[in-house]
Amino acid sequence: MSETRTGMIAYLQSEFAINRTSYKDEQGRGMVKPKYSLSAYSRSLSAAIIILSSLSFCQAGASPKTKTLPWMNPSLSPDERAGMVVKQMTLDEKISLLHGTGMEGLGPMSPLAVHSNGGAGYVVGIPRLGIPAIQMSDAAYGVRQSGENGRYSTALPDNLASAASWDPDGAYEYGTLIARELRAQGYNMTLGGGVNLARDPRNGRTFEYLGEDPILAGKLVARVMRGEQEQHVIGDIKHYVLNDQESGRNAVNVNIDKRSMRESDMLAFEIGVLEGDIAAVMCSYNRVNGDYACENTYLLTDVLKKDWNFKGFVVSDWGGTHSTVKASAAGLDHEEPAEIFYGEPMKKAVEAGKVPMSELDDHVRRILRSMFATGVIDDPPKKSVVDVVAGFETAQKIEEQSIVLLRNENSQLPLDASKVTSIAIIGPHADVGMISGGGSAQVDPPGGNAIMPPGQGRTKWQDHIWFPTSPLKAVRTRAPQAKVQFASGSDLDAAVSLAKSSDIAIVCAYQWESEGMDLDSLSLPEHQDDLIAKVAAANPHTIVVLETGSPVTMPWADHVSGILEAWYGGSRGAEAVTRVLFGDVNPSGKLPITFPNSEADLPHTTIVKPPLASTTKADDPDAWKPIAAGLPAFQITYDEGLKVGYKWYDAEHKSVLFPFGYGLSYTTYSYSDLKVVRGNTVKVTFKVANSGSRAGSEIAQVYAALPPNTGEPPKRLVGWGKVKLDAGESKEVTVEIDPKYLSVFDVGRNAWQLVPGDYTFMAGGSSQSLPLIQSLAIN
Ligand code: BGC
Repeated sequence: MSETRTGMIAYLQSEFAINRTSYKDEQGRGMVKPKYSLSAYSRSLSAAIIILSSLSFCQAGASPKTKTLPWMNPSLSPDERAGMVVKQMTLDEKISLLHGTGMEGLGPMSPLAVHSNGGAGYVVGIPRLGIPAIQMSDAAYGVRQSGENGRYSTALPDNLASAASWDPDGAYEYGTLIARELRAQGYNMTLGGGVNLARDPRNGRTFEYLGEDPILAGKLVARVMRGEQEQHVIGDIKHYVLNDQESGRNAVNVNIDKRSMRESDMLAFEIGVLEGDIAAVMCSYNRVNGDYACENTYLLTDVLKKDWNFKGFVVSDWGGTHSTVKASAAGLDHEEPAEIFYGEPMKKAVEAGKVPMSELDDHVRRILRSMFATGVIDDPPKKSVVDVVAGFETAQKIEEQSIVLLRNENSQLPLDASKVTSIAIIGPHADVGMISGGGSAQVDPPGGNAIMPPGQGRTKWQDHIWFPTSPLKAVRTRAPQAKVQFASGSDLDAAVSLAKSSDIAIVCAYQWESEGMDLDSLSLPEHQDDLIAKVAAANPHTIVVLETGSPVTMPWADHVSGILEAWYGGSRGAEAVTRVLFGDVNPSGKLPITFPNSEADLPHTTIVKPPLASTTKADDPDAWKPIAAGLPAFQITYDEGLKVGYKWYDAEHKSVLFPFGYGLSYTTYSYSDLKVVRGNTVKVTFKVANSGSRAGSEIAQVYAALPPNTGEPPKRLVGWGKVKLDAGESKEVTVEIDPKYLSVFDVGRNAWQLVPGDYTFMAGGSSQSLPLIQSLAIN
């Protein structure tokens, strides 16, 4: 088979002549009901014969007979166990582990896909060897497609929200909950773990990621994945790497120098892989410095597998595989969702000696090793009822820790329920629900989209989905003596007059985001800026609750008395927001991403869009074919390099609306007694005191400025501590800093280097409020 573009299209078209009945979105994903042509069917037949004999096993796990197989001994290491299995496998069995079985609209379907659990990926098991199927589900902020599968899952606050809690324990709990619900629904692999850096906050998936700092993002994703893997689910982090915009994601070539990528986007993955002991990494759609990420030797082999000693397997993003021999040699272990390159073409390539058997065995061994290491073979999932109440509790608790209080003029908040007599709740759909993030992260709301009539709210790709957590109802419940009324804002005059006649006006404003699109701007949609400005002019006690997955611009910020960033708040968003508004919870979240004054201050004022030649037609059911063959590349150059997020604004001396690390509390904190000591690591110790009259938690941050000759941005986050303090209490905080976090990446030596010189350490409550400063010479 030729791997040239024209040859590839011809091959794909002849090999998979599939008739399709319906289609919808850009990439055609999830929308097409294929019927099999004979060629597609016969290609899958050999695999079918191997496996069909005892398919029910694929769901159930080891049978009494296979339990006695030598590699079923859990006292052996995962490597030993995987190695023993590989030795017993036929070529067809090996190949069957290297690919999925199809997804509607993203390639041909295998007849075996009927045994899928309904998730995004299904890999057949090998019953005679006791190897169960891999059932993968998207699970960014909860288990996806549960509604479609007749099940229920909890929507946690979105991933960016969880990063605003800066809480490794919360991240672990986040992962644990998702994994329990995955297992209860019959899945043994997650496709969560998004950790792309927010180089551009207009990226439509910003809500699925963990912000703009690699150390914060990397440490949190590691804890989420530990939480998942310890429940015996195969963990996965994605999208490796530099998939920092959605526009033209299948065609774009990202240009960036090695030092910048290693110290920014790749550092988040490095920390995630090393601290999370991750079982799988999903390579991304885009090209990086010329090669697709899923066939990029530098990314997959040189760095991931060699430098980081990653022991798990690399899975392609859905439709992100573009070759057989090249991808295999570069380090791609597994193709999803279909078997375009890693099915029959892989078998032929092995037989022809183009893919060495040792290379094939390494792919297979890695997959098996991850299965043994995470326990999915020893402890397969059993379907059971999801614990809805526990899910609610966890979702609410995490949201309460994630809400960021951005403004509180004249201590407008917290509200006193016994004193307020009337409250206006204003904003689109604030009577019934709160918005959620779309795309493959979308969790289904119980009962469907809250803004649709009962029974008609089935979630569809890129619909705006509102969760049934109602700010209006939650506030009414919390302030029963007050008259709480609602205006959607669609009638501006009605909203303004309700605001005027109420003690307090609470405007719930939203910005929806999804995979497959980017935001045109950071402004709130649906004339909400105008609505807020007019309400604020009518009522001096206006509080804005933001339901956004990214920063937004706020032309009205100086005219409102309170602003809460609630993100996409999950299943219990309204209850958590209400508890913060009324002071049952003292807010403690801090921004994991800078809120700029305007798009003009971003490193790139507009998002580079693909030229026509690099796109596919929105309604083309065969769009996956030119994508697989490789769309013509268009270029983005990340010439801001190391200057991601706050590092950019610092270096360029640009003022911002709200800085990275910022967030208010209903109490105040003071910082003192900084000590910086060098042993094997650098230890930064200081005192934080609660100088106000309420208990609270402070996220105390430590930044370092590297010696000037390193050419680094002015400062970087190097650690933090979250400390709980009663009113008047003070505690010592010690932050131990990994030397890597003080280092620069030396491309010539291909290693991190701690450059001798004077380092300045700063501690405080945000990247722009750092009252404690001390220098330390490191030689
Ligand atoms: C997304 C991945 C997702 C996969 C499976 C892709 O389009 O980029 O994040 O896991 O689909 O749904």
